[in-house]
Amino acid sequence: MFRGRFTFTILIFFIFSSAATASESNADYLARRSELLQMEDGLRLGAGVKLNEKEIKVNNLFKTLKDKELLNGYINPERNVPGIHFFKGKSQMENDSRVFRLLKNMPKGAALNLHTMASVSSEWIAQNISRTPGLLNCTSKDGTIILTFRKKTNMACTTVSEEREKYGSEYDKLFESLFNLYSPTPEVTYPTKKEIWNRYKTMYYTIFDVINYLPVFRTFHWHMLEQLYDDNVMYAEIRLDFFPLYDENNKIYPANQTIIELKDIEKKMKKIAMKKTNKIMMKKMKKITMKKMKGITMKKMKRIAMKRVKKIAVRRAKQIVTKRKDMKENMRIKRKEKDPNMKILMNII
Ligand SMILES: *[C@@H]1O[C@H](CO)[C@@H](O)[C@H](O)[C@H]1NC(C)=O
Ligand SMILES: *[C@@H]1O[C@H](CO)[C@@H](O)[C@H](O)[C@H]1NC(C)=O
Ligand SMILES: *[C@@H]1O[C@H](CO)[C@@H](O)[C@H](O)[C@H]1NC(C)=O
Ligand SMILES: *[C@@H]1O[C@H](CO)[C@@H](O)[C@H](O)[C@H]1NC(C)=O
Repeated sequence: MFRGRFTFTILIFFIFSSAATASESNADYLARRSELLQMEDGLRLGAGVKLNEKEIKVNNLFKTLKDKELLNGYINPERNVPGIHFFKGKSQMENDSRVFRLLKNMPKGAALNLHTMASVSSEWIAQNISRTPGLLNCTSKDGTIILTFRKKTNMACTTVSEEREKYGSEYDKLFESLFNLYSPTPEVTYPTKKEIWNRYKTMYYTIFDVINYLPVFRTFHWHMLEQLYDDNVMYAEIRLDFFPLYDENNKIYPANQTIIELKDIEKKMKKIAMKKTNKIMMKKMKKITMKKMKGITMKKMKRIAMKRVKKIAVRRAKQIVTKRKDMKENMRIKRKEKDPNMKILMNII
């Protein structure tokens, strides 16, 4: 052990002393180092994207806000959202973080691998689904609460509307806690992974039969798309297991019905989203061109608006292609100059 430390000290001494004396090679080293860093930066996603004037403005604004929030977190670690438990930081982030608000409104390419059962807010389930007539609160033999719209012969059930009357205005919170892990003191409620994992799994048993009730299946997934739309997500890849659905007359639908239902929901949502987008575009176009386009028909105006949308889309697509080309080019250069790069690396070490 002594020997190890001794060698290490010598090594440090050697590095420092040689760095101090050889300032010329130091400058050379720094120049090559910066070159290497620049090359690496060029490999980052978005490195080849050229921002226009307006985008540069937004980017600067965003960076300023981000730096401010990071600095605030550094000064007040107890309020540093990325550094505290999610349960404690979430509402603070939603209330105070301008970065979060900006990100929420920004257009987003895709939500991938979205597990539908966990895709809508528990608050909404408590506010909306819990008020669907016929909902039962059943308790299985092992004590797990199962919410369902069909009578379970082997379980003791009460109706949710009765429970609501008992608890009054507090009921939504109680109901929500059945499928939300929140605890004001998570470190006490879940001392180890085992507790939180068990609780997490139970939540899905609790809510599972509710979602397979056809009327709820529809509102649930509709709301999922609504939330994605509000977050400005443009594409979603959802994950779900296909189970038979049931309705108020206890009719059972084969599992493939879920696909038909989802396709239908998607179609309706697209129609509404398109309408909303058109409306926004029309508003903008009207503002910009009202003076210029006196006497022009709405139809023509719409055509011009759509052309603009297309133009923007094409520009974005071109940027992505350019980025890909840049990346390929970078890789090619890297391969070609493999030897000099190796040298740079060796110099650093
Ligand atoms: C955020 O705002 C909500 C609603 O106004 C409030 O109940 C909550 O206490 C606030 N949270 C924080 C951390 O300020
Ligand atoms: C639940 O949400 C659906 C779809 O948004 C809506 O049509 C329905 O009225 C809501 N129900 C309640 C009880 O809020
Ligand atoms: C569900 O039923 C159980 C057993 O009767 C009861 O303890 C619990 O408070 C009920 N929960 C809700 C959210 O209705
Ligand atoms: C859906 O599944 C049922 C039962 O497995 C089958 O009879 C039916 O043909 C399927 N429908 C479609 C459209 O594939």
